[in-house]
Amino acid sequence: MRMKVLISQKIFDEVVSLAEKYFDVDYHSSDIPLQPHALIQRLKNKMGAITLLTDRIDDAVLSQCPEIRIVSNVAVGYNNIDVNACTRRKVMVTNTPGVLDDTTADLTWALLLSTARRVVEADQFLRSGQWKGWKLMEFLGHDVHHKGLGICGLGRIGQRVAKRGKGFDMKILYTDVVRAAPSIEESLGAQFVDKKDLLSESDFVSLHVPLFPETTHYISDAELALMKPTAILINASRGTVVDEKALVRALQEKKIAGVGLDVYEREPEVEPELLQMKNVVLAPHIASASRETRLRMATMAAENLMAGLTGKRPPNLVNEGVLQ
Ligand code: GLV
Repeated sequence: MRMKVLISQKIFDEVVSLAEKYFDVDYHSSDIPLQPHALIQRLKNKMGAITLLTDRIDDAVLSQCPEIRIVSNVAVGYNNIDVNACTRRKVMVTNTPGVLDDTTADLTWALLLSTARRVVEADQFLRSGQWKGWKLMEFLGHDVHHKGLGICGLGRIGQRVAKRGKGFDMKILYTDVVRAAPSIEESLGAQFVDKKDLLSESDFVSLHVPLFPETTHYISDAELALMKPTAILINASRGTVVDEKALVRALQEKKIAGVGLDVYEREPEVEPELLQMKNVVLAPHIASASRETRLRMATMAAENLMAGLTGKRPPNLVNEGVLQ
C-alpha cells in the first residue's frame, strides 16, 4: 500500500504530480488554508505533509496525528512549526533554503529603491491625474548609491543583499550573532559592527534575521530611536522581528524617514496607520514570489518529503535531533 500524504494548500500541478508518483496524495487544492480542526482531520491518517507557512503545526496538531513522520515546509522560515514538539514526537521538519536567496534579495532591493525614490507614491500621483508636468522640486527622494547600508543578519539572504549594495557603491555594515569569515567580509566589502552602531550609522537598515524568541521585536522603540531621522528601514524577513506599533510611532514622530515592508506581525493584517503613510511601501509577503523560485521551493519540499519517507536523510532537515 502506498503511503498517504497531505498537500495542505494549492501548489504547482507538476509538484502534485511528482508527489503522486510515490504517494497516495490528499490535495487541498485551495489557496485558503485549512482551519486548524480541518487540518487535523486531513492529517490524521497521513505519514507526511507538504505545508505552507500559513499552516500552524504545533503540539496540539501533532498529538492527534500519531502517524506523521515528516512535515515538509515550502519556505526557508519555519516559525509556523513547533520544531521542539516535532523533535519530541520524532517528526522530521524540513525547509527550502538556498533557492530563494537571490529572489528575496531582489525584492528587498525593490522595496529599498521604491521607498527611497518614492516610486509607489509617484505612480499613484501620475495615475490619479495629478501630474501637471516636470517640476524641479517634485518627488525629491533619497539617494541610494554611496550611502550606508546596514544589514542585520549576514546569512545567505543578507549576503545577497550586501552584494547588490556593493554594486551601488554603498558602505556596508553588518551585525550578526557570529562574525562572518574574513573572506566573506572582504568579498562583500562588509564591516562587522554591533547592532547599536549599525542602527545609528546606516542610511538603510535591512533585516535578514530568522524569527526566534531572541529576534522577536529585534526592532522596537529603543532601536528605532537610534536610527537617523533620514534612515529607511526594510523588512523582508518575518513580521514579528519588528514591533509594528513601535514602527508606527517612530514614523509618526519622524524618527525615521521611511519603511519598506514585505512581512507583518499579524498577516494578513497591517497596522492601519501604515496604510495611510506615503513614506511606507507595503508588499504582501512576496519576497520569494518569482515563478521559478516558488516552483523550485515546492519541488524541493516534495523531494524532502520523498527522502524522509523512504528512509533517507532529507536534504534540508531542520531538526537533526530527530534522527538520534
Ligand atoms: C518565505 O517567507 C520563506 O520563509 O520562504
